[in-house]
Amino acid sequence: MRLTDHEKAMLDGAHGAARQKAMDLLLRYGNALGAERLVETRNVAGTIGATTPFMRKFADERGGLDAVFSEFNLDSAEVVAIPPVEVYSSHLQQGIDPEHAARQGVGEEVVRIFRKGDAYSAGLGVQLLNTCTPYQVGNLPARGEHCAWMESSAVIYINAVLGARSNAEGRESTGAAMLTGRIPYWGYHIESERRGTHLVELDMPVESMSDWGMLGYYVGDKVQDKVPVIVGAGLAPSTLKLKHFGAAAASSGGVEMYHIPGFTPEAPTVEAAFGGNRPREVFRFGPRELRETYENLNATARDPDVDFVMLGCPHYSIEQIWEVCRLLQGRRVHENTELWIFTPRATRQIADQNGYTRIIEEAGGYLMSDTCSALGRVIPPGTKVAAVDSAKQVHYLPAIMGIQAWFGSTADCVEAAVTGRWKGGLR
Ligand code: F3S
Repeated sequence: MRLTDHEKAMLDGAHGAARQKAMDLLLRYGNALGAERLVETRNVAGTIGATTPFMRKFADERGGLDAVFSEFNLDSAEVVAIPPVEVYSSHLQQGIDPEHAARQGVGEEVVRIFRKGDAYSAGLGVQLLNTCTPYQVGNLPARGEHCAWMESSAVIYINAVLGARSNAEGRESTGAAMLTGRIPYWGYHIESERRGTHLVELDMPVESMSDWGMLGYYVGDKVQDKVPVIVGAGLAPSTLKLKHFGAAAASSGGVEMYHIPGFTPEAPTVEAAFGGNRPREVFRFGPRELRETYENLNATARDPDVDFVMLGCPHYSIEQIWEVCRLLQGRRVHENTELWIFTPRATRQIADQNGYTRIIEEAGGYLMSDTCSALGRVIPPGTKVAAVDSAKQVHYLPAIMGIQAWFGSTADCVEAAVTGRWKGGLR
């Protein structure tokens, strides 16, 4: 790979052992990808925490969180002192919500280590956004900005909706990018790689949040890791619908970029979306595909008695919390059911100020942050049947936790929380 003088100096150790390790990792990674050079990034979203039992044991045995960073972010068995980050870096979601640890079945020792990790990250200058949606709480990259982000639902959002440029990175590459401000120049950093490959034509209006989630799930399944271009009459996506669509497409497939001509910034027209190329394949999405996707998403669900309703995948915006409160106000969550709603830390503060946290708690639900059920493996003890309004969460939760899960609209889920029964369906 071609390196600049500054990159060579980092690789030679002139900027310390940690940056040397980081450059070494980026070179190995870039060479494996066939990248010819690195690109400068000033915006990284990754994870450096240690909330899993394995990581905690590792930190204890090897002398702390620098050892965790060395091994798991820099792929270095040698423990090096980690300096403050070089560029703006945000922490993604973690394994627990320290404010609701007991309810999540997490012991005090884990909370203590979690808080140590938060202090460690803050000490390095990593912003504790602790969410899968950094773009909802202040980290909003500009069009064309080269980023190094983990978390598939966030990468597809900043690529497609904002026009920023990132591949779905890993813990190692984002750790190295935090210290060097560099990431391999390949994939979606390159203009020509961002062009559409497959056309998806809609034969029906796609309007509700759940319709957008199901469309995303269908599209991801069809195109896998390619770049779909979605066209159809009357499309009117909102940022929330695109958040939902992208998260679903990134879970059933590996979609990291898409275009909706007339809406997403790099596709003023269908021709521009394809950059002069012809679509490799054309898919159609109509009532039959919608029904098949709905049945697919509900494949694990049989029992209508719902123990647990999980909302907030990807983490809810304040608008979504407000909508839930309007559905929930003055009602009570059923005695056999738990309602957990996940949102970024910062958004929870706004919810506190607006009285939404109180409305949810008075109804018997909980507003949580920092983690989610699938990622943290946190569900109420004894849960057999869950209900969710997210195609991504229903893709992962039953497989990870060995439970049944219903997928439906937010209103269906709130109704299930209040009655303890699933009465949702395709409308
Ligand atoms: Fe976020 Fe968890 Fe969904 S990390 S995107 S809420 S699976």
